[in-house]
Amino acid sequence: MSPSLDAGPRTHSIACMPGDGIGTEVVAAGVEVLKAVAKIGSFKLEFKDYDWSSETYKKTGKYIPDGGLDELRKHDAILFGAVGAPDVPDHISLWGLRLAICQPLQQYANVRPTKVFRGTQSPLRNCADGDLDWVIIRENSEGEYAGQGGRSHKGLPWETSTEVSIFSRHAVERIFRFAFETAQKRPRKLLTVVTKSNAQRSGMVMWDEVAAAVAKDFPDVTVDKMLVDAMTVRMVNKPKSLDTIVATNLHADILSDLAAALAGSIGIAPTSNLDPTRQNPSMFEPIHGSAFDIAGKGIANPVGTFWTASEMLKWLGEEDAAQLLLDATEDVCGQGILTGDLGGKATTQEVTNAVIKAVQTRANKSKSS
Ligand SMILES: NC(=O)c1ccc[n+]([C@@H]2O[C@H](COP(=O)([O-])OP(=O)(O)OC[C@H]3O[C@@H](n4cnc5c(N)ncnc54)[C@H](O)[C@@H]3O)[C@@H](O)[C@H]2O)c1
Repeated sequence: MSPSLDAGPRTHSIACMPGDGIGTEVVAAGVEVLKAVAKIGSFKLEFKDYDWSSETYKKTGKYIPDGGLDELRKHDAILFGAVGAPDVPDHISLWGLRLAICQPLQQYANVRPTKVFRGTQSPLRNCADGDLDWVIIRENSEGEYAGQGGRSHKGLPWETSTEVSIFSRHAVERIFRFAFETAQKRPRKLLTVVTKSNAQRSGMVMWDEVAAAVAKDFPDVTVDKMLVDAMTVRMVNKPKSLDTIVATNLHADILSDLAAALAGSIGIAPTSNLDPTRQNPSMFEPIHGSAFDIAGKGIANPVGTFWTASEMLKWLGEEDAAQLLLDATEDVCGQGILTGDLGGKATTQEVTNAVIKAVQTRANKSKSS
């Protein structure tokens, strides 16, 4: 599944899965923008739509049809919206679609960059442009979301339930290697390992030990360790002191929502679910969910999906196009064309149109210079 490095036009096949709620609105916007970027670049994007969603589940009893994962494996990448509907329990929708893709396709590294875009504002009083520029690496295959657990004596007063966290040396070591490599590629070469080894004295202690062992292979990366509770305080009080952050599946899930809010809105944050071995397609999605409260109103912020699309292009080897899309998105924020979550009045379509125009303007400028 690795991108072709040959010269000449390349074609990337994208599985497009909008899912539920605003997922359908932001993915449609993302595809529009990606088509505009591809027109300018020397590559082609082929999209295939998959209507796997809570609607499909309610009709067929399944989120993913038989053989569905093999279908997905034929693509170079997956662009995903969100899953979740008011009339389907969240654990059914999450495990039926998103986790049912991430886990078998071994997308074990979840990458969540966050920064404050030009023209937007952090809710933090003293957070200037550039003070908050982080990448959160989330272990995406096991930990607290390993799926191990059960319920006995359901509904009875002595009912018992377990939710077991799994930490395997194999998975912990590979996520640390990935995190150290990510930190090493960033200018500050600074990695913060988030843990909870004071209270969780088995899995989290091994987590710390593996971090220390892997650190020896990356002498140029400065590493520090934070308990997850203290980490929330540091993110708020000293955003500039952080750069790359690695945490377990649950811890990073929570910290990355906080990160997005500190950067201005959950509507701008992207996620990549990567199989770093490139044996399976990776999946790209905005961090946010299906947002029932604003679905169908045309006001969802598409910026998180545009940044996601940019990350997808980068993974596919289209680095220039990825940067063009990210820069154009930031231009539009800088012009004050913002949706309601960022304090503006623009609709999803207005932001989308503005980003397409900004892509074209930047491309024309670089042609004539
Ligand atoms: N990856 C996923 O598919 C994923 C992630 C999170 C939640 N969910 C699901 O989504 C459903 C709703 O969950 P939730 O309400 O906890 O989280 P959510 O992210 O959908 O919404 C949280 C709040 O943020 C706002 N918001 C989110 N995205 C926005 C955007 N692009 N533009 C403007 N505002 C935005 C919403 O309006 C809402 O007020 C649930 O079913 C949940 O399980 C799915």
